[in-house]
Amino acid sequence: MTTIKACLFDLDGVIVDTAVYHYKAWKQLANSLGFDFTEHQNEQLKGVSRVRSLELILGWGGVTKTSEEQEVLATQKNTQYVEMISHMKPDEILPGAKEFVQACRDAGLKTALGSASKNSMMILEKIGMVDLFDAIIDGNKVSKAKPDPEVFLKGAEAVGVLPEECVVFEDAIAGIEAAIAGGMKSVGIGSHDLLGEADLVISGLHEMTLEKLRAL
Ligand code: G6P
Ligand code: MG
Repeated sequence: MTTIKACLFDLDGVIVDTAVYHYKAWKQLANSLGFDFTEHQNEQLKGVSRVRSLELILGWGGVTKTSEEQEVLATQKNTQYVEMISHMKPDEILPGAKEFVQACRDAGLKTALGSASKNSMMILEKIGMVDLFDAIIDGNKVSKAKPDPEVFLKGAEAVGVLPEECVVFEDAIAGIEAAIAGGMKSVGIGSHDLLGEADLVISGLHEMTLEKLRAL
Protein backbone atom coordinates (compact mmCIF):
# COMPACT_ATOMS: atom_id res chain seq x y z
CA MET A 1 0.00 0.00 0.00
CA THR A 2 1.29 3.45 -0.89
CA THR A 3 1.38 6.04 1.84
CA ILE A 4 -0.47 9.25 1.01
CA LYS A 5 1.76 12.30 1.38
CA ALA A 6 -0.21 15.06 -0.32
CA CYS A 7 -3.80 16.13 -0.91
CA LEU A 8 -4.58 18.13 -4.04
CA PHE A 9 -7.82 20.09 -4.00
CA ASP A 10 -9.90 21.45 -6.82
CA LEU A 11 -11.43 24.81 -5.87
CA ASP A 12 -14.82 25.35 -7.52
CA GLY A 13 -17.32 22.89 -6.05
CA VAL A 14 -14.84 21.39 -3.57
CA ILE A 15 -13.63 24.25 -1.36
CA VAL A 16 -16.27 26.81 -2.36
CA ASP A 17 -19.56 26.60 -4.19
CA THR A 18 -18.57 28.87 -7.06
CA ALA A 19 -19.83 26.21 -9.49
CA VAL A 20 -23.24 27.83 -8.97
CA TYR A 21 -21.87 31.26 -9.99
CA HIS A 22 -20.16 29.84 -13.08
CA TYR A 23 -23.45 28.20 -14.06
CA LYS A 24 -25.46 31.42 -13.54
CA ALA A 25 -23.00 33.53 -15.53
CA TRP A 26 -22.83 31.06 -18.45
CA LYS A 27 -26.62 30.65 -18.44
CA GLN A 28 -27.11 34.42 -18.69
CA LEU A 29 -24.69 34.54 -21.60
CA ALA A 30 -26.47 31.69 -23.42
CA ASN A 31 -29.86 33.30 -22.78
CA SER A 32 -28.59 36.60 -24.20
CA LEU A 33 -27.70 34.67 -27.36
CA GLY A 34 -31.21 33.22 -27.52
CA PHE A 35 -30.83 29.69 -26.17
CA ASP A 36 -30.52 27.77 -22.92
CA PHE A 37 -28.73 24.68 -21.60
CA THR A 38 -29.58 22.19 -18.89
CA GLU A 39 -28.04 21.51 -15.50
CA HIS A 40 -27.02 18.13 -16.88
CA GLN A 41 -25.09 19.82 -19.72
CA ASN A 42 -23.55 22.11 -17.11
CA GLU A 43 -21.85 19.08 -15.53
CA GLN A 44 -19.67 18.91 -18.63
CA LEU A 45 -18.43 22.46 -17.94
CA LYS A 46 -17.13 21.71 -14.46
CA GLY A 47 -13.36 21.73 -14.35
CA VAL A 48 -13.22 22.85 -17.96
CA SER A 49 -11.37 26.05 -18.96
CA ARG A 50 -13.21 29.28 -19.76
CA VAL A 51 -12.40 29.14 -23.48
CA ARG A 52 -13.39 25.49 -23.83
CA SER A 53 -16.59 26.03 -21.83
CA LEU A 54 -17.64 28.76 -24.25
CA GLU A 55 -16.93 26.51 -27.24
CA LEU A 56 -19.12 23.77 -25.76
CA ILE A 57 -21.96 26.19 -24.95
CA LEU A 58 -21.93 27.78 -28.41
CA GLY A 59 -22.01 24.26 -29.87
CA TRP A 60 -25.10 23.37 -27.81
CA GLY A 61 -26.86 26.51 -29.08
CA GLY A 62 -25.77 25.87 -32.66
CA VAL A 63 -24.19 29.33 -32.67
CA THR A 64 -21.04 30.13 -34.64
CA LYS A 65 -18.78 33.01 -33.57
CA THR A 66 -15.40 34.23 -34.79
CA SER A 67 -12.50 33.91 -32.38
CA GLU A 68 -12.59 37.68 -31.79
CA GLU A 69 -16.30 37.48 -30.90
CA GLN A 70 -15.60 34.49 -28.65
CA GLU A 71 -13.00 36.50 -26.78
CA VAL A 72 -15.54 39.28 -26.18
CA LEU A 73 -18.13 36.78 -24.95
CA ALA A 74 -15.67 35.02 -22.62
CA THR A 75 -14.66 38.38 -21.15
CA GLN A 76 -18.33 39.31 -20.75
CA LYS A 77 -18.99 36.11 -18.81
CA ASN A 78 -15.92 36.60 -16.66
CA THR A 79 -16.85 40.19 -15.80
CA GLN A 80 -20.22 38.96 -14.58
CA TYR A 81 -18.64 36.06 -12.69
CA VAL A 82 -16.03 38.29 -11.02
CA GLU A 83 -18.80 40.65 -9.93
CA MET A 84 -20.58 37.67 -8.31
CA ILE A 85 -17.49 36.36 -6.50
CA SER A 86 -16.24 39.80 -5.45
CA HIS A 87 -18.73 39.69 -2.59
CA MET A 88 -17.63 36.25 -1.34
CA LYS A 89 -16.97 35.83 2.36
CA PRO A 90 -15.37 33.05 4.44
CA ASP A 91 -18.87 31.80 5.29
CA GLU A 92 -19.13 30.57 1.69
CA ILE A 93 -16.47 27.94 2.28
CA LEU A 94 -18.22 24.57 1.84
CA PRO A 95 -18.92 22.65 5.08
CA GLY A 96 -15.85 20.89 6.43
CA ALA A 97 -13.51 22.10 3.68
CA LYS A 98 -11.28 24.38 5.72
CA GLU A 99 -11.27 21.93 8.63
CA PHE A 100 -10.20 18.99 6.44
CA VAL A 101 -7.41 20.94 4.69
CA GLN A 102 -6.17 22.03 8.12
CA ALA A 103 -6.41 18.43 9.43
CA CYS A 104 -4.23 17.27 6.52
CA ARG A 105 -1.62 19.90 7.37
CA ASP A 106 -1.73 19.03 11.07
CA ALA A 107 -1.10 15.39 10.09
CA GLY A 108 2.03 16.45 8.17
CA LEU A 109 0.57 16.04 4.69
CA LYS A 110 1.30 18.56 1.95
CA THR A 111 -1.67 20.45 0.50
CA ALA A 112 -2.01 22.00 -2.94
CA LEU A 113 -4.71 23.68 -4.96
CA GLY A 114 -5.25 22.42 -8.51
CA SER A 115 -7.84 24.51 -10.32
CA ALA A 116 -8.47 25.53 -13.92
CA SER A 117 -9.73 28.91 -12.71
CA LYS A 118 -7.74 32.04 -13.39
CA ASN A 119 -9.71 33.63 -10.56
CA SER A 120 -8.44 31.13 -7.94
CA MET A 121 -6.23 33.59 -6.06
CA MET A 122 -8.97 36.18 -5.73
CA ILE A 123 -11.34 33.56 -4.31
CA LEU A 124 -8.76 32.18 -1.86
CA GLU A 125 -8.06 35.71 -0.65
CA LYS A 126 -11.77 36.46 -0.18
CA ILE A 127 -12.29 33.32 1.88
CA GLY A 128 -8.99 33.62 3.76
CA MET A 129 -7.47 30.28 2.72
CA VAL A 130 -4.33 31.29 0.79
CA ASP A 131 -2.03 30.18 3.62
CA LEU A 132 -3.56 26.72 3.85
CA PHE A 133 -1.89 25.52 0.63
CA ASP A 134 1.79 24.70 0.14
CA ALA A 135 1.33 25.24 -3.60
CA ILE A 136 -1.32 26.92 -5.71
CA ILE A 137 -1.58 25.76 -9.33
CA ASP A 138 -4.31 27.63 -11.17
CA GLY A 139 -5.47 28.40 -14.70
CA ASN A 140 -2.65 30.89 -15.13
CA LYS A 141 -0.03 28.19 -14.62
CA VAL A 142 -1.27 25.43 -16.91
CA SER A 143 -1.54 25.11 -20.65
CA LYS A 144 -3.56 21.89 -20.83
CA ALA A 145 -7.04 21.69 -19.33
CA LYS A 146 -8.45 18.78 -17.28
CA PRO A 147 -8.88 15.86 -18.12
CA ASP A 148 -5.19 16.39 -18.89
CA PRO A 149 -3.34 15.71 -15.62
CA GLU A 150 -0.98 18.73 -15.98
CA VAL A 151 -2.53 20.80 -13.17
CA PHE A 152 -2.22 17.96 -10.65
CA LEU A 153 1.21 16.78 -11.83
CA LYS A 154 2.47 20.35 -11.36
CA GLY A 155 0.89 20.42 -7.89
CA ALA A 156 2.59 17.15 -6.91
CA GLU A 157 5.91 18.39 -8.23
CA ALA A 158 5.57 21.74 -6.43
CA VAL A 159 5.15 20.00 -3.08
CA GLY A 160 7.81 17.37 -3.86
CA VAL A 161 5.55 14.33 -3.74
CA LEU A 162 5.20 11.48 -6.25
CA PRO A 163 1.87 11.26 -8.16
CA GLU A 164 1.04 7.87 -6.62
CA GLU A 165 1.37 9.43 -3.16
CA CYS A 166 -1.30 12.05 -3.95
CA VAL A 167 -5.05 12.13 -3.52
CA VAL A 168 -7.10 14.49 -5.67
CA PHE A 169 -10.43 15.91 -4.44
CA GLU A 170 -12.69 16.83 -7.35
CA ASP A 171 -16.33 17.57 -8.17
CA ALA A 172 -15.85 17.36 -11.94
CA ILE A 173 -15.80 14.30 -14.17
CA ALA A 174 -12.91 15.90 -16.08
CA GLY A 175 -11.04 16.32 -12.79
CA ILE A 176 -11.42 12.68 -11.74
CA GLU A 177 -10.23 11.66 -15.20
CA ALA A 178 -7.23 13.99 -14.80
CA ALA A 179 -6.35 12.37 -11.47
CA ILE A 180 -6.58 8.89 -12.97
CA ALA A 181 -4.49 9.96 -15.99
CA GLY A 182 -1.89 11.33 -13.58
CA GLY A 183 -1.67 8.04 -11.66
CA MET A 184 -3.22 9.52 -8.51
CA LYS A 185 -5.95 8.40 -6.14
CA SER A 186 -9.18 10.39 -6.33
CA VAL A 187 -12.12 11.32 -4.16
CA GLY A 188 -15.24 12.53 -5.95
CA ILE A 189 -17.30 15.28 -4.33
CA GLY A 190 -20.88 14.87 -5.50
CA SER A 191 -23.02 12.04 -6.78
CA HIS A 192 -21.89 8.47 -7.32
CA ASP A 193 -23.75 8.33 -10.64
CA LEU A 194 -21.52 11.02 -12.10
CA LEU A 195 -18.23 10.37 -10.32
CA GLY A 196 -18.24 6.59 -10.01
CA GLU A 197 -14.75 6.34 -11.50
CA ALA A 198 -13.27 7.86 -8.31
CA ASP A 199 -11.82 5.63 -5.56
CA LEU A 200 -14.34 7.10 -3.12
CA VAL A 201 -17.34 9.39 -3.56
CA ILE A 202 -18.57 11.65 -0.75
CA SER A 203 -21.08 14.48 -0.75
CA GLY A 204 -18.65 17.01 0.67
CA LEU A 205 -15.40 17.39 2.61
CA HIS A 206 -17.40 17.38 5.87
CA GLU A 207 -17.63 13.63 5.28
CA MET A 208 -13.89 13.20 4.81
CA THR A 209 -11.54 11.98 7.55
CA LEU A 210 -7.86 11.06 7.77
CA GLU A 211 -8.96 7.46 8.41
CA LYS A 212 -10.83 7.37 5.08
CA LEU A 213 -7.78 8.91 3.42
CA ARG A 214 -5.49 6.20 4.78
CA ALA A 215 -7.93 3.50 3.65
CA LEU A 216 -7.84 4.60 0.00
C1 G6P B 1 -13.03 25.72 -12.85
C2 G6P B 1 -14.53 25.61 -13.00
C3 G6P B 1 -14.96 25.82 -14.43
C4 G6P B 1 -14.36 27.10 -14.97
C5 G6P B 1 -12.85 27.05 -14.89
C6 G6P B 1 -12.20 28.33 -15.37
O1 G6P B 1 -12.44 24.57 -13.31
O2 G6P B 1 -14.98 24.35 -12.55
O3 G6P B 1 -16.37 25.87 -14.46
O4 G6P B 1 -14.76 27.32 -16.31
O5 G6P B 1 -12.48 26.85 -13.53
O6 G6P B 1 -12.51 29.36 -14.48
P1 G6P B 1 -12.22 30.89 -14.73
O7 G6P B 1 -12.49 31.52 -13.38
O8 G6P B 1 -10.77 31.01 -15.11
O9 G6P B 1 -13.11 31.35 -15.81
MG1 MG C 1 -14.62 21.92 -9.59
